[in-house]
Order: sequence, then C-alpha cells, then structure tokens
Amino acid sequence: MRTHYCGDLRTSHLGESVEVCGWVHTHRNHGAVIFLDIRDHKGLLQVVFESENASVFARAEKLRNEFVIRVVGKVQHRRDGETNPKLGTGAIEVLASELEVLNTSEVPPFALHEHIGIGEDVRLRYRYIDLRRAEVQQRLRDRASIVSQIRKFMEAQGFVDIETPTLARSTPEGARDYLVPSRVHPGNFYALPQSPQIFKQLLMVSGLDRYYQIARCYRDEDMRSDRQPEFTQLDVEASFVDEAEIMNLVETMLVGLFRVQLEVDLGEFPVIKYAEAMYRYGSDKPDLRNPLQLVDIDDLVVDSDFKVFSAPANDSNSRVAVLKVPASVDQLSRKQLDELVEFVKKFGAQGLAYIRVKDRSTGRDGLQSPILKFLTDRELSEILTRCEAASGDILFFGADKSQTANVFLSELRDRVAKNLELIEQGFYPCWIVDWPMFELDQDQGHSPAHHPFTRPTCSLAEFNSNPYDAKAHAYDVVINGYEIGGGSLRIHDLEMQQAVFSVLGISQEAQVKFGFLLDALKLGCPPHGGIALGIDRLVMILTGAQSIRDVIAFPKTQTASCSMTHAPSEIDHAQLRELNLTLRKESR
Ligand code: AMO
Ligand code: AMP
Repeated sequence: MRTHYCGDLRTSHLGESVEVCGWVHTHRNHGAVIFLDIRDHKGLLQVVFESENASVFARAEKLRNEFVIRVVGKVQHRRDGETNPKLGTGAIEVLASELEVLNTSEVPPFALHEHIGIGEDVRLRYRYIDLRRAEVQQRLRDRASIVSQIRKFMEAQGFVDIETPTLARSTPEGARDYLVPSRVHPGNFYALPQSPQIFKQLLMVSGLDRYYQIARCYRDEDMRSDRQPEFTQLDVEASFVDEAEIMNLVETMLVGLFRVQLEVDLGEFPVIKYAEAMYRYGSDKPDLRNPLQLVDIDDLVVDSDFKVFSAPANDSNSRVAVLKVPASVDQLSRKQLDELVEFVKKFGAQGLAYIRVKDRSTGRDGLQSPILKFLTDRELSEILTRCEAASGDILFFGADKSQTANVFLSELRDRVAKNLELIEQGFYPCWIVDWPMFELDQDQGHSPAHHPFTRPTCSLAEFNSNPYDAKAHAYDVVINGYEIGGGSLRIHDLEMQQAVFSVLGISQEAQVKFGFLLDALKLGCPPHGGIALGIDRLVMILTGAQSIRDVIAFPKTQTASCSMTHAPSEIDHAQLRELNLTLRKESR
C-alpha cells in the first residue's frame, strides 16, 4: 500500500515517485493549491495538490482533519521561504498525482494539530485519539524499548523468563485483592496476584535458580499519580545469593538503562539505612534532589514547659524534629507560612510551630515566632546551635507520634523545596537498607515492613525473644523520591517462617493460605532472594512523564475505572446466577 513512511522522506528522495498513507493533520486551501500535512507514526509530511489535476484536486478539497488517505506523488523541494527546519521532512514536499480516501472521520473530540489544554478525562475517554499525538506515542515506544533492554540484560545474566498464574490465591503485599468468582466452584474466588511472590519462591525450590518475569500485578489500594490498580513489575528471584548480589544486579541494570536512554551516568548508588532515612528525611523513599533535612531536638526539650514539645520528647514512639529552611525570610511570606500550617494538617499534624531567625547574633531579640514565649533562652540557643541556624533561616518544628511527624514533615520538606525551587535537576538514586521486620500500622498493630516472607537478620532464638526489634535482609531502590523497587532475602527455614506468621498473629490463617509454601520449605528449599521493580514508575522517570498514567496505553482513572470502556461495569442477572452471586440491595 505504501513505499515510505510520511516522516521518513528526506531530500535524498527528491524526484522519486512515492506512495504514502496517513491521517490528515491539517489542510490549507489556497484556491489554486491545497497543502496538507499528513501524519503517520514517523512524523508529518507536506503534500501539495494543484488545481491542474482537476479530479484529484476536487477530492482533496473535501478532505477534513483525521481522514485516512493514501497519496501517490513525487518528492520535490519546498518553495523558497516554505521550508520548516523543525521538521525532518521540512525541506521537501510531495506533489500529489493520486489520492485515495481510505476512511473518513467525524470531527475528533479534540484537535490534534494545535496544543490546547484538554482535560485528562476527555483524553482518557478517547484514548485512541490521544495516542495519535506524537509525544504520547513516543512514551509507549520508549517503554517498549526499555522493557526490551531489561529482557536482554536479564537473559544475558542467566535469568529465565517464566510466567506464573494470574488466577491465583491471595499474595500478601499489603493491599486489598481483586477477586474473581469461580463458576465451577460456587462461592470460591481466585485472587489476582498482588505480585508473583510465592510462585517465584517456589520456582527456587524447584531449582530454576534464576527467574524473571515482566509480570502484571493487581492491587486494590488508593490511587496516586504513581499508582495504578494494575501495574507491571520486573520480578526477579535467584537462589544462593546475598543482598549485595541482587543490589549489584539491579544497580548495573539501572545504570545501563539511564546511560542508553538519557546519556545520564547514575554513578554508584548511595546506601542509606532505613533509620537514617527516617531521621534525615522522615521518609523511606527520600527525594535526594531536595537538599533540606530534618534534625531531632527531643533531648533539648525533654524538660521544657512547652508541653507541645516536651510531651512527645518524653515518649519513645514520638519525635520532635526541625526542618531548617535556609535563608528564606524574604521568600516565605506570613501568608505562605499560614498555608504551610494548613497543608501539614492534611497529613495529621496538630500544628506547625516555626521560628524565623532574623538575626542570629542578637539572641532572642533576633527571633520571630509565636512560640518564643514558651521556650527559655537556653532552649532557644541550644535549638539554634543544633540546627546550625543562620540569619535568614526559618525553622519548622514537628512534634508528634513519630509515624505522624514523619509523614507531615516529609510532605512539608517536599512542599517547601518545591515552593522555593530548591529541587535540584537530575537523577538521584539510593538504596534503603537495614529495614525493620515490622512497622507499626495506623492502628498501632504490627505489620510487615515488606512482606511476611522476608528473612530477619537475626537467629530464630533472637527473633523469638525480641521480634519487634528484628531487622530484615531487605532493600528498596529509590530514585528522586519514587520507590522504584523493593526486595529481600527470603525465609527458607520452616520454623522461622512459622515464627514470623505467629508474630503477625496469622499462624492458622497462614496454614490455610500458604500451607503449600510451608510444605515446600520442608522439601529442600535453597536460600534465595529477589526484588521487584515497578516498570511503570521506572518508565515514568526515564521519559520525564508526570504520572504513570502517561506511560500506560490504557490507564485507569483516579477512581480505578476506565473512562473509555466504562470498566468496572454491572453484569447481568444471568451471569450473576451462573457465578452463584447475589448482590446486596444497596449495591444494585
Ligand atoms: P513491592 O510491593 O515493593 O514488592 O512492589 C515492587 C514495586 O512495584 C511497584 N508498585 C507499583 N507500581 C504502580 N502501581 C502500584 N499500585 C504499585 N505497587 C507497587 C513499586 C514497587 O517498588 N513481591 C515484592 C517484591 C520482592 O520482595 O521481590 C513486591 O511486590 O515500584
Ligand atoms: P497550641 O499550644 O496548640 O496553641 O500551639 C502552640 C504552637 O505550637 C502553635 O504555633 C502550633 O502551630 C504549634 N504546634 C501545635 N502542635 C504542634 C505539633 N504537634 N507539632 C509542631 N507544632 C505544633
């Protein structure tokens, strides 16, 4: 049907007769001559129709944007003054001798030839039109190239690509499951995998040694710009490995990807202990492009009369920390400070005290703050010294349960740095290691910091005597504040696995849900470990996209639905009956 792609034609094709196909991007009728830009995935090409060729010209007059056409013609120079250096095809055009209309098009829901702000809801409803835009399409092509490089890398390292079931049993990764009712087994449900975790561990028991998969995972959790209900992992598992081997493998792969895709040298990734990350950044996925850091002052205010500080300072589950924002007196107005106070309240803060250091040299007189009256000269002076405060700085104070303080202080850290444009350019990766086995959850119960198959660093006896202080052989890789991947060495010892289930209070449930894994641990399970990287997040960073929705062909909205197909949708009564399901009245 065609001899060339539109966007491929160059001056080297001058004089050639060519056949091209594509969409009408723009059409301009100058009376005796019509100019079209026609578009295919390689780019735009100018096509000229002259009125001398009357029948073809008459048909060209009827063309509208997004009609699908085939043109036969000759490549010629554009006239003087009409060349377009921004286009690859900008020096040439095709003088049409034949025109075939392959399909017409109604007026599209949004124009593709001009940049107007189109709401994401409309773009997603007509995603197939949105994907006609070069920059959107380019991200999908980049994604394909990145995944292809990943596959080549993993295979060169001896990893074998194995598919695991997606109609499965629940895998605990901390989110809710998407469930699929079974017709054949009334009242029973499959769970779509939150990850292939258990299957990949079983493949190690089988002696497959090195497994990888580009695996689709499903999690019913709150949406964010870096979360989708279905997403893709590079899932990896290997036998007879230590932490360093998995970390080296992933680091080498990421360094290679950034070099090839962006000509960026990521260098050696800094390794940060979990406790240090929480201390300095209040987050286990710190954005290291942001120079701001937290400093604890609990010990300086334990005896203070200011209860807002001294109460948490005397509680081991709380912290009193300062975020120092350098030399910004003139940059943060009173109004902006008030906005920040409101901002942190959204993340559970009861308040946000701050001190403006107007002049460090004049003691209390050089400070400005609603809380000055609550603090003694000595407390103030020690706080300023601890924070290495200088004239011009603003100190923000967070005092609360550590969990809450960390959340709002890390959000504050990001927000202030963005407001004041302190975020540096570039890519700042790091490893977070030395994780605790368990974290306190919202209800102050213990849940796994990773998942319950993660291997503690201590012996079984030590674990049993003090499980909540146990550390894990776990590692996360973070780039620019995004958790790109997480992994661990796994428990290969039955008693240790049972001890972890027992601490989580799920021994009986685990026997029912993961009895097969416990059996496998009795049957010669090698020491093993692995990791999973979020492909969508990685591609988002590598392509500079703002959201993972931009790197997924047909993403879900913030409410986990598809604007185009209207999934999820109701099902009819016959189908419900077949699945042995009845709906509660209120959900009909
Ligand atoms: P984890 O739960 O950390 O580990 O997931 C691994 C990586 O997957 C990505 N990710 C997501 N991406 C988009 N949308 C989501 N809803 C979403 N959830 C997770 C993140 C994350 O770092 N089985 C373990 C891995 C292992 O231990 O080997 C696991 O799934 O980038
Ligand atoms: P209050 O005693 O509640 O009026 O608070 C006095 C000052 O301390 C105000 O500036 C509050 O914003 C601030 N503040 C209150 N609670 C906290 C908290 N948990 N962390 C940091 N500052 C707080």
